[in-house]
Amino acid sequence: MSNGEIRCVGLFKIYNEGEPNECRALNGVDLTIELGEFASIIGPSGSGKSTLLNLISCLDTPTRGEVYIEDVGISGLNGVQKARLRREKLGFVFQQFNLIPTMSAAENIELPMRFKGTPKPVRNSKVEEIIELVGLSDKAGNRPSELSGGQQQRVAVARSLANDPQIILADEPTGNLDQNTGKTIMGLLKRLNEEEGKTLVIVTHDSKIAKNARQKIQIVDGKIV
Ligand SMILES: Nc1ncnc2c1ncn2[C@@H]1O[C@H](COP(=O)(O)OP(=O)(O)O)[C@@H](O)[C@H]1O
Ligand SMILES: [Mg+2]
Repeated sequence: MSNGEIRCVGLFKIYNEGEPNECRALNGVDLTIELGEFASIIGPSGSGKSTLLNLISCLDTPTRGEVYIEDVGISGLNGVQKARLRREKLGFVFQQFNLIPTMSAAENIELPMRFKGTPKPVRNSKVEEIIELVGLSDKAGNRPSELSGGQQQRVAVARSLANDPQIILADEPTGNLDQNTGKTIMGLLKRLNEEEGKTLVIVTHDSKIAKNARQKIQIVDGKIV
């Protein structure tokens, strides 16, 4: 066993096991992603990409097998420990942005730090730093409805960085964006990998996006191919 990686070992996710409507969303996945890597997970719709990402994200538990993050097996963690792992080590970017509509861009970015209990002055300077990093300083006070899709996704990327996670997990982050805006978001994520050393795991069904990644993981019918 070595440190510094995400490791999936014999991972199965079987919905409705033993029932007539049983669905093997993941069918024995073994996978290692080194920290600092830029990995893409590509596969057709329904192949198990989101299921895999949700297991790595500690959002869901496998039917069998284990996910290790830096040698810590997730199944051994209680709810509080899982929440801490999610808050401190992982950042999330979703296809639907998932911003809070009543909050400004800056407040959305600040939120994970409030959950963590970061003091207000530290939060303020961190928000300023990362909103600049994603090129939205002039939109800090705007609500999501006052921003374009690409700008909203930049806010979501900034929010994922709030607690300075080592790992960023993104599920179809460009799925709701036009091609050019998608390219901008991918450029931003790529820069975070190259310049800030963030581990990037991006789920996509777009081969153009996937080919940007250094580690290309292909999944079909719940299996790595
Ligand atoms: N909660 C659930 N209950 C039953 N089946 C599910 C559930 N979530 C996902 N599935 C099934 O698992 C398979 C993989 O889904 P998913 O991981 O979302 O695929 P992808 O993200 O690659 O499109 C699909 O066949 C889907 O219908
Ligand atoms: Mg999906």
